[in-house]
Amino acid sequence: QTYDLFATTTEAERHALYARMRAESGLCRIAPFGAYAAARYEDVRIVQKDAQRFSSEALATTAEPPWLGPNPVAQSLVTRDPPRHTQLRALINRAFGATGMARLEAQVRHEAETLAEAAVHRREVDLVDAFSFVLPRNIIGRMLGLEPSTFTEFKRWSVNMGLITSAVPAQHPGIRDTVKEMEDYLGGVITARRRQPGEDMVSDLLRAEVEGQRLTDAEVLSFLFLLLPAGMETTAQLIGNAAILLARFPEHLEQARADRAHIPRFLEEVLRYEPPAQFAFRVATSDVELSGTPIPAGSLVMGLVGSANRDERIFEQPDAFLPGRDKGSQHLSFGHGIHFCLGAQLARMEARFALEALVPRIRALKLRSPDIDWLPGLTIHGPRTLPVELIPA
Ligand code: HEM
Repeated sequence: QTYDLFATTTEAERHALYARMRAESGLCRIAPFGAYAAARYEDVRIVQKDAQRFSSEALATTAEPPWLGPNPVAQSLVTRDPPRHTQLRALINRAFGATGMARLEAQVRHEAETLAEAAVHRREVDLVDAFSFVLPRNIIGRMLGLEPSTFTEFKRWSVNMGLITSAVPAQHPGIRDTVKEMEDYLGGVITARRRQPGEDMVSDLLRAEVEGQRLTDAEVLSFLFLLLPAGMETTAQLIGNAAILLARFPEHLEQARADRAHIPRFLEEVLRYEPPAQFAFRVATSDVELSGTPIPAGSLVMGLVGSANRDERIFEQPDAFLPGRDKGSQHLSFGHGIHFCLGAQLARMEARFALEALVPRIRALKLRSPDIDWLPGLTIHGPRTLPVELIPA
């Protein structure tokens, strides 16, 4: 059965459609581009996890938009299968492990406190511009050793990169420009670090060796194309979505103010309820079946994470926002299996420190409009702008 997911205009409509998909067939076709879409939790988990039957590598060519040319993230680990994926991941893992995160902790906390203090002082702000985007942007910028004066274009770049899979023709020229600008910028960074290595992740990547092999410049470039938007946009959406839910459910602001241990529970439910990355894309490597429906080899398959996280087969009262709920951390928002999000620890830390900085400073968080200005496209889910009033504590 075919459903037009891209015709839904409101959150409520989208979730009603997901519920119908789960109930009616589980495995559906999505208009307009005919991909197979898994709507039920178990199927989405299989799509994310079973790298043998659902390839990420084949995506680089199958899902390559003809209007864009070569997919700029095609050589990064997110679009590789084993064995190359395993090697790339081993090279990169170290920077994101517990030691790497511990080194970043003080920086993230300091940055969050400074931004929260300034935002609450201004009282009426666009929370995306003043807080939720700027925090992850500054952190990933620092991890990569980038010059802060060059951060100004990052917002436009990450929004445009997030649109690639679902762009309408009017958006194509802007996205092509972005890819070119990022290529020039990131290529320049690689050249500079080759000449003069430093204590940053780009230099680490250029130095790193696994089984006697180094990353090629094209692989480093491709990884940075993935990392820059991945490090900013999704985390910004998590913090933005958390702010929206704090405004809608002020009892959780109260609870977090009374006990900061409530914050991680609250954030885990924000991840389940409003996943920043809505889809997992793969290509079927052979004829396969999900929920009894055959999928021919070579088909583009989408795992609908936003639907899986509301599957009544796993989560009781799935449409209720219930931090601390049973099985709450089983959401699929960071993926599953070998491609499980490399930045999950970092994202959780940034979001936790963001709320730990903001919550004690405010008595209330008021949305200045009841209608949320959501990002365009369906792939990345969160506010594009978020005008709020922060009532100081
Ligand atoms: C992979 C979501 C933050 C870097 C993924 C995947 C998801 C995801 C769903 C799996 C993709 C797939 O299965 O094809 C998120 C969300 C975030 C977040 C919701 C924030 C709330 C970050 C951050 C970074 C990052 C902060 C880095 C600084 C990556 C990388 C991969 C990845 C490198 C590829 C891993 C691989 O293929 O082995 N992310 N991410 N992410 N994420 Fe994140």
